[in-house]
Amino acid sequence: MAILDVDLAQNNNSSSAPPCHAHAHAHARQQAHADEQQDAEEEEQQQLLLKGVRHLCERGTITKLPARYVLPPSDRPAPGDQPRSSSCIFPVIDLGRLRVPAERAAALAELDAACRDYGFFQVVGHGVDGGGRMLDVARRFFDLPFQERARYMSADIRAPVRYGTSFNQLNDGVLCWRDFLKLVCCDDLAAVVPSWPDAPTDLREVVSAYARSSRRLFRELMEAALEALGIRSGGAAEMLADCDAGSQMLMVNCFPACPEPDLTLGMPPHSDYGFLTVLLQDQVNGLEVRHADTWVLVDPVPGSLVVNIGDHFEMYSNGRYKSLLHRVRVNSARPRISVASLHGLPPERVIGPAPELVDDEKNPRMYMDTDFATFLDYLISAEGKHKSFLQTRRLITN
Ligand code: OGA
Ligand code: NI
Repeated sequence: MAILDVDLAQNNNSSSAPPCHAHAHAHARQQAHADEQQDAEEEEQQQLLLKGVRHLCERGTITKLPARYVLPPSDRPAPGDQPRSSSCIFPVIDLGRLRVPAERAAALAELDAACRDYGFFQVVGHGVDGGGRMLDVARRFFDLPFQERARYMSADIRAPVRYGTSFNQLNDGVLCWRDFLKLVCCDDLAAVVPSWPDAPTDLREVVSAYARSSRRLFRELMEAALEALGIRSGGAAEMLADCDAGSQMLMVNCFPACPEPDLTLGMPPHSDYGFLTVLLQDQVNGLEVRHADTWVLVDPVPGSLVVNIGDHFEMYSNGRYKSLLHRVRVNSARPRISVASLHGLPPERVIGPAPELVDDEKNPRMYMDTDFATFLDYLISAEGKHKSFLQTRRLITN
């Protein structure tokens, strides 16, 4: 197999011989030609990288990280840095207890504390089955020949089905070591499923079953959280109706094994848009959360799902619940697959703090109202560094 080295920084093949008088003209022409050729090669390399990390790895053994993926030293995961493990930090909550009347109050208090103190936790007893099948079909999708996956490539971030690479392809100066399949799910799944990939042949069935159970979990978590926040019946009923009609997006992520994992990231630090994210990860480490000024690794707990608060929930809760920055590290030994289900309200809703949670004295309004169009404008204009929409919505900083 060919050894591939697409380090663009090393792609400098211009001659350094000094031009002598008689040959100056010819040399200039040669130089122009060499420059053109170099530009064309660089353009070809850039086009290659936009086909994704899987494609890059499939073309041959990569021993060096291409320059486009190399983060400036200040943004790299510190070499040899061992993040704190989450098992002693983020709680693992048994949601089965929410369904036992005698235990519901205690389980609600635990959930509330996890949302306030961490914004990230793992759940068991969640009632979502099919996680194993979901990961399996995801793996088989990324194993398909590139041509098959490329059918879903689109530069349009609004496309409901989209195969892509990196984080925000439009703006990423440095690319991330990640490919993804984005599937927009709506409350009428049957309407969108026919536009999803038809290979592997069981993808539509497995993914739609998983999407439905994730949506049920979102509903259950929102109902519990609203109760814990003390949102009264009218406001809660309205919110739950919005959740039922709400938006859902599945991000099926693939992080191939990486030749120089300390120089890059699978996903840069970002917070999630929307209300709640339900994340299914395989048994390979990678997800890290920024908590108390350190990066904390979220240890995969077999059978669990990771739940985290998104920007909208932080805004709606007027800052009581926290939307934390998180990132994904890659490794040189094993590929990693994860499936994030991002849940929110219908896209046309304006999001702002719940009236019940704002008062002039103790709890002044912390965020301005926001809508989906503002977020899309942000995504299109945001520069590589600012991965948190939330920061742009803050009225009070502390
Ligand atoms: C995401 C995300 C984490 C992971 O898709 O927003 O943060 O572990 N994913 O894949
Ligand atoms: Ni995320």
